[in-house]
Amino acid sequence: MRIIVGITGGIAAYKAPELVRQLKKRGHEVRCAATAHALEFVTRPTLETVSEAPLYCDLFAGNAHGTEHISLKDWAELLVVAPATANIIGKAASGIADDALSTLLLAMAPERVLLAPAMNSQMWAHPAVQRNLQQLKAWGMRTVGPAEGALACGTNGPGRMAEPTEIADAVANGERKAVGGKWLVTAGPTYEKIDSVRFIGNYSSGKMGFALAEALAEAGADVELVSGPTHLTVSHPRIRRTDVESAREMYAAATALWPTCQGAILSAAVADYRPATQADHKLKKQGSDGMTLELVQNPDILATLGSSKQTGQRLVGFALETNDELQNAEKKLQRKNLDYIVLNSLRDAGAGFGVDTNKVTILSADGSRTESPLMSKREIARLIVQEVT
Ligand code: C5P
Repeated sequence: MRIIVGITGGIAAYKAPELVRQLKKRGHEVRCAATAHALEFVTRPTLETVSEAPLYCDLFAGNAHGTEHISLKDWAELLVVAPATANIIGKAASGIADDALSTLLLAMAPERVLLAPAMNSQMWAHPAVQRNLQQLKAWGMRTVGPAEGALACGTNGPGRMAEPTEIADAVANGERKAVGGKWLVTAGPTYEKIDSVRFIGNYSSGKMGFALAEALAEAGADVELVSGPTHLTVSHPRIRRTDVESAREMYAAATALWPTCQGAILSAAVADYRPATQADHKLKKQGSDGMTLELVQNPDILATLGSSKQTGQRLVGFALETNDELQNAEKKLQRKNLDYIVLNSLRDAGAGFGVDTNKVTILSADGSRTESPLMSKREIARLIVQEVT
């Protein structure tokens, strides 16, 4: 991998050359970037010697246009900031780019950043630092450490930078599982037409399904996203989007794509019923009596894909349950011939329709269970992709 080790001004900077050496020993190509404060602790010749590359620490030196941060971010597959001081963490969380390293950090996709925080325990415990780190993690940055132990300030506690070996291991573990082939994702609600201006719908926003499509694409898959009506947009070039409105349209699109797919994650909130007839004009109010709408059942897309599943194909469904959650989800897993079912319970505050966060339990056909904390839907999506692929 091509890695930039970014060094900021904490005493643990003295361990950075050792980290560079270990990463190179493991076969990575390494370049270093440092803040001015970091160079109070570790010297340019040391970093240039161990990395065998010029150090990046000045936005303009050697490049009158000041665009080296862009060419470096294009070059690098990963930026490891070690040590990451409270200062760089705060700047990154606020989008501040006022020197070479913070500018590079802002240019890098958050998923390609690993932070090894190091600071005094009290600074580490400060709500500002914790809030900033949570923000960075929610955007996709990973962290390693800090450990507990003797600190340079003479105290003991959390704040010690993870050892170079541990950071190098985190680099290796973080090389997320690549996902090959084509994956189908359904997302959003369906609209079941009553007449030319009315429909039966639901509150699904499509956020979970879109996050899943993005996570699969980021992991390397080609994604066929079949979406009900939403205002969301996709940007990843490996996502092909088909917009549908009704359950029957979603059924047609999904069943046509399924035989060509390696796997499918069906997160759409599909209406179980649709009006038996759909008027092609606006229905008029009649008299002063009520009105009865006759409903007929929609096809179950998930069950249909399950019944035609071939060896090697993975099928993942969602379950939104309000009572006997685990039991119901397990039954559904078996009945629909799924490999995994993702259960979200409406009992958990912050989980479910519309919101940006979710909390799920992933049940697999072999009986294993993974429970997530309350996380952003983006993070949940990454977790699901890692579990089910
Ligand atoms: O049976 P239930 O509707 O609770 O199952 C939910 C799961 O089934 C979700 O993954 C949803 O996308 C899928 N589903 C479907 N077609 C339907 C109804 C639900 O694909 N008609």
